[in-house]
Amino acid sequence: MIHGNGWPSYNIWQHSTIVRDLYTRRCRLEAEEMTCHGQAVELLRPHISPGDTVLDVGCGSGYFFHALHRRAIPVHYLGIDATACLVDIGKRYLPAFGLPPDRLQTLRIEDLGGTVDHIVCINVLSNIDNYHRPLERLLNTAQKTVILRESLGETGTYAYVRDQFLDEEVALKVHVNTYPLQEVMQFIASYGFEVSSVQDERAGDQPEMVIGYPHYWRFLVAVRPSSEG
Ligand SMILES: C[S@@+](CC[C@H](N)C(=O)[O-])C[C@H]1O[C@@H](n2cnc3c(N)ncnc32)[C@H](O)[C@@H]1O
Repeated sequence: MIHGNGWPSYNIWQHSTIVRDLYTRRCRLEAEEMTCHGQAVELLRPHISPGDTVLDVGCGSGYFFHALHRRAIPVHYLGIDATACLVDIGKRYLPAFGLPPDRLQTLRIEDLGGTVDHIVCINVLSNIDNYHRPLERLLNTAQKTVILRESLGETGTYAYVRDQFLDEEVALKVHVNTYPLQEVMQFIASYGFEVSSVQDERAGDQPEMVIGYPHYWRFLVAVRPSSEG
């Protein structure tokens, strides 16, 4: 017998009460804004025209919407995430703050098509198997800019480790990858973007321990030259 439930069964984000509680509090504005969300908005702001669409890829429960909304950035926010229970949290709580529930969708990056003006993707690609296929989707979908925050270093390191912060008796592994900065920047440039690397305000140039493993956070800002007026 086989079944098609492999994705939710192996997906660590589907198995964490801690994450669901935190994301609920973020949606309800009961937790402080993530420093990286504030920084992502400021990196995006110069490239925004009123009415532009911003797609948040791997949005969790979509609380990046608050970071845009509280700064009155005049955009249409959309979010996708592969974990249905996290998307459901956003659909439940964000309408009270003005986000229609259909702006959030359960969708894997690999299945993304269509176009938007801007994409933000924060703390996602470092914890999946590799960056080429998902990043290609993002670069082909964004007409103007892509803002990424990932673990990036001089050289690449790839690990697949047990996540000790999941619900009791859940024994699942997650990727903890640091991608080679120059290689990723060249990859982005090969899709016609001008790309710059920006220090992460929260981490500085120091590693941050997440689930017990170092992450070397940096932002990449990728801009299609033809999109700037
Ligand atoms: C560490 S969380 C980051 C959430 C949010 N971006 C933030 O800044 O707090 C990583 C998110 O990526 C999502 N994710 C993992 N693999 C994905 C995929 N293949 N497609 C879409 N989302 C994915 C997970 O469900 C999870 O919500």
